[in-house]
Amino acid sequence: MRLAIVGLGKMGREVASMAAVRGHDVVWMLSSLENREGSGLTPERLAATDVVLEFTRPDAAVANLLALARAGSRVVCGTTGWQRELPRVSEAFGQGGGTLVHGTNFSVGVRLFFETARAASERFPRAGYAPYLVEEHHAEKRDAPSGTAKTLSSIVAEASGTAPPITSVRAGTIPGLHRLVFESPEDEVELVHRARGRAGFAKGAVWAAERIAGRRGVFEFGELLKEVS
Ligand SMILES: NC(=O)c1ccc[n+]([C@@H]2O[C@H](COP(=O)([O-])OP(=O)(O)OC[C@H]3O[C@@H](n4cnc5c(N)ncnc54)[C@H](OP(=O)(O)O)[C@@H]3O)[C@@H](O)[C@H]2O)c1
Repeated sequence: MRLAIVGLGKMGREVASMAAVRGHDVVWMLSSLENREGSGLTPERLAATDVVLEFTRPDAAVANLLALARAGSRVVCGTTGWQRELPRVSEAFGQGGGTLVHGTNFSVGVRLFFETARAASERFPRAGYAPYLVEEHHAEKRDAPSGTAKTLSSIVAEASGTAPPITSVRAGTIPGLHRLVFESPEDEVELVHRARGRAGFAKGAVWAAERIAGRRGVFEFGELLKEVS
């Protein structure tokens, strides 16, 4: 496939490596300097591309996504922290006839962690255990709590009726850690996901790009995974 990448940060570079490993051509990569408010997403560039992967910043993603929606592009967006704008973005993709896969976490391990968290949240709070969440990321991460922690929090709240408090740590080079703890006065039970690097996120993003060839609409990453598991 001909893939393009918007955002040349840590994830953009990781996605480029993973695309090559999976046998795809990266036809262009766009940095912030060439793409103020989505202005680098020109018809010429988009015509040369099958899928655009967007990994930028919370304050840049919406302009990029609206420009890509208007062009009817196929897009995988991993940027976090913009999801309250999802209804507006989804409507634009509907009008433009394009495709969007979005997700706060493209790691398959995290998706299975979400399912385990749901099952645990149906049992522990009923037995008197109070849930809380801790997430840790590298010092440069802009949004807090992480998108993954917010998703986990809503899973726990739905399953147990209790929204857990979230503590965020921003330090060093931590690629990503999420800890869901259920505590009672006597003991505590922890579920932990620790990313070893960024390759797992990149693999999920490139896999999503492969899955949407020939499809239209807006999908959450988990929906695509459910189709194959
Ligand atoms: N969904 C997932 O699985 C997953 C996994 C990891 C990370 N993420 C998310 O992915 C995003 C990127 O993470 P990262 O670690 O790669 O961050 P990063 O290293 O800070 O990189 C972000 C890059 O986006 C660039 N950028 C900003 N505005 C842009 C624009 N309008 N056009 C093109 N590029 C633009 C920045 O350039 P400048 O430095 O010049 O501004 C920077 O190079 C974050 O939101 C992060 O939370 C998601």
